Amino acid sequence: MPPRRKREWFDNDTFWRDIHDFIFAPARLKAAKGEVDSIIRLTKIKKGAALDLCCGPGRCSIALAKRKFKVTGVDRTKYLLDRARSRARAAKVKIEFIQKDMRDFTRPDSFDLVINMYTSFGYFANPDEDLTVLRNIYTSLRKGGAFLIDVIGKERIAKIFLPSSVDVLPDGSLLVQRRTLVEDFTRTNNEWIVVRKGRAKSYKFSHRLYSGQELRELMERAGFKCVKLYGSFDGTPYDNKAERLVAVGRK
Ligand SMILES: C[S@@+](CC[C@H](N)C(=O)[O-])C[C@H]1O[C@@H](n2cnc3c(N)ncnc32)[C@H](O)[C@@H]1O
Repeated sequence: MPPRRKREWFDNDTFWRDIHDFIFAPARLKAAKGEVDSIIRLTKIKKGAALDLCCGPGRCSIALAKRKFKVTGVDRTKYLLDRARSRARAAKVKIEFIQKDMRDFTRPDSFDLVINMYTSFGYFANPDEDLTVLRNIYTSLRKGGAFLIDVIGKERIAKIFLPSSVDVLPDGSLLVQRRTLVEDFTRTNNEWIVVRKGRAKSYKFSHRLYSGQELRELMERAGFKCVKLYGSFDGTPYDNKAERLVAVGRK
């Protein structure tokens, strides 16, 4: 039985359902194929068993399965797993999907590749739980396996930070985003206000921000070896031009 925990923002299924069309827009779904090609290039893991941790609607799970990996997708959100299952059926690929919190999932020495994509890390109020997740991943990897994580780095946030912005969603509604940097620049608190047919609905979420060096150190504490940082999926350096913080560690 998983431990009883205080509810946090990511436990709200309605949040994921309501923002689905925005964060998983067609272009984002389409990008998964190229991302998986890059994952294979950066990790040099070309086959075997892969875990897509926090798989959401199965973007990368499906792209990995098409590259002949034996894929397990884990996510806490039933709505997104249902989307993942029906997308996998439509793509005619077989994937094991499991509904589980990333703090609770381990399958020791079972995967050649583990991925955690599109800022699916740093969600917990208690920072020790981020380390728990990394330790779980390390346990689940086979010796010789690799882990790739893709988040937005603190350095990038410092460069592009905007306290507010407005986007038009595909259905014509407005998405107003408000952001603050809190707890000594260790977290970002965000409010998304969706204005649909004249009615506003507000969603609040928050995640911890890691600099490249902070993420590397946490991965090393979890046991990862040879941790390398990149500023994009093209394998560019993690420097002032970095758009993403992509880290690869090995067991
Ligand atoms: C920004 S989405 C990214 C989805 C996917 N990785 C991708 O690249 O499209 C974050 C995902 O993390 C999942 N998630 C949030 N908190 C979680 C938790 N505690 N355990 C497992 N999954 C979680 C959400 O349900 C959501 O699918």
